[in-house]
Amino acid sequence: MPPSDYALTVSGFRTIDELEDALRGADYLPDRGLSTALFLALALEKPLLLEGEAGVGKTEAAKSLAQATGSRLIRLQCYEGLDVAHAVYEWNYPRQLLHIRAAQEGTVSEDELFGPEFLIRRPLLEAIDGDEPVVLLIDEIDRADEEFEAFLLEVLSDFQITIPELGTIRARRRPAVILTSNRTRELHDALKRRALFHWIGHPSIEREIEIVKIRIPGVSERLAAQAAAFVRELRGLDLAKPPGVAETIDWAMALNALGRQEIDAEVVEQTLGSVLKYREDIEAVRDETLARLVDSARTTAGA
Ligand SMILES: Nc1ncnc2c1ncn2[C@@H]1O[C@H](COP(=O)(O)OP(=O)(O)OP(=O)(O)O)[C@@H](O)[C@H]1O
Ligand SMILES: [Mg+2]
Repeated sequence: MPPSDYALTVSGFRTIDELEDALRGADYLPDRGLSTALFLALALEKPLLLEGEAGVGKTEAAKSLAQATGSRLIRLQCYEGLDVAHAVYEWNYPRQLLHIRAAQEGTVSEDELFGPEFLIRRPLLEAIDGDEPVVLLIDEIDRADEEFEAFLLEVLSDFQITIPELGTIRARRRPAVILTSNRTRELHDALKRRALFHWIGHPSIEREIEIVKIRIPGVSERLAAQAAAFVRELRGLDLAKPPGVAETIDWAMALNALGRQEIDAEVVEQTLGSVLKYREDIEAVRDETLARLVDSARTTAGA
C-alpha cells in the first residue's frame, strides 16, 4: 500500500490540522513543528526520534498519539543492560520444564517445546506481531547500550524479527514508532538516518498557559499565566536543571491546591520545591532574585 493511503487508513488524518485537533482531544497541545513531524511519521511510515530537555512532553507525545489515533500504546522503557530477552521475547523455561516432566510421565508429547505457548512476548515482538494499530514508544533510547541500538536498527529497518525456533515474523501492519532521547549520549547516525527527527523545545508562553489550563481543570487564568511567566523567568537563569512543562504543571497544581489565585514572593518561596529540584538551583533564586522574578512574572502576566 503506498504511504499516502496508509496515512489515511491507519490514522484517518488528511491534514496536520486534523491530527492537531485529535491530539488536543487527548489533552496534548503540540506546536506546529511537532504535529508536522508526527503527521509525516504516520504518512511516511517512518520512526520519529524526539529529543529535548527533561519534561518537555516527549513521552506524552507518544501516549497522546496513541490515544488520538485509537491505537494501542506499547512501551519499551530503555535502560543500561536492556537485552533481547526483555525487549523482544524469551522462552518460558519453567513452563517448558513442566512440559518435559509431563512428557516423561507420558501425559503429553514432547515435540512442541518451542511453540508459541512457551514464548514470552516482550514489547518489540508484541508491536510487530499483531493486527491492531499500534504506537510503539521506545522511551529513552540513549540509556540503552550501543549494541542494543544496533539491534534496534535492524528491527526498525525491516519490521521483522527472527526467532530461530519459529522462523521470521514480519509485521503485517507497521506500528507507528516514537523514539525519545534526553541526549545523555549521541545516537548513531545509522539510527538517525532511518528516523525523522524533531527537537522539542520549551513551549511559548501562550502555549504553556494553555497546557496548564488543559491539564488542571478549573485553574484560574491568572494563576496559569503567572506560573507560566515565572517558570519562563527561571528558564532564563543559569540553572543546573531548568524546569520543564511537567514542573510548571506540578507547581500550578500545588498553588491551585493551596487556593491561590496568584503568586507572591512568600508562596513562591514555600512551593519552590515543586518547580526546582536541585538545592543549588533553589538557593540561586532565593532572596532578591526571587522577588525580582515574581515582580517580572506578574508584570508579564498582567496581574
Ligand atoms: N504539549 C503538551 N501538551 C500537554 N501536556 C504536556 C505537553 N508537554 C508536556 N506536557 C505535560 O508535561 C508532562 C511531562 O511530559 P513528559 O513526561 O512527556 O516529558 P518528557 O519530555 O518525556 O520528560 P523526560 O525527559 O523527563 O522523560 C506530561 O505529563 C504532560 O502532562
Ligand atoms: Mg519521558
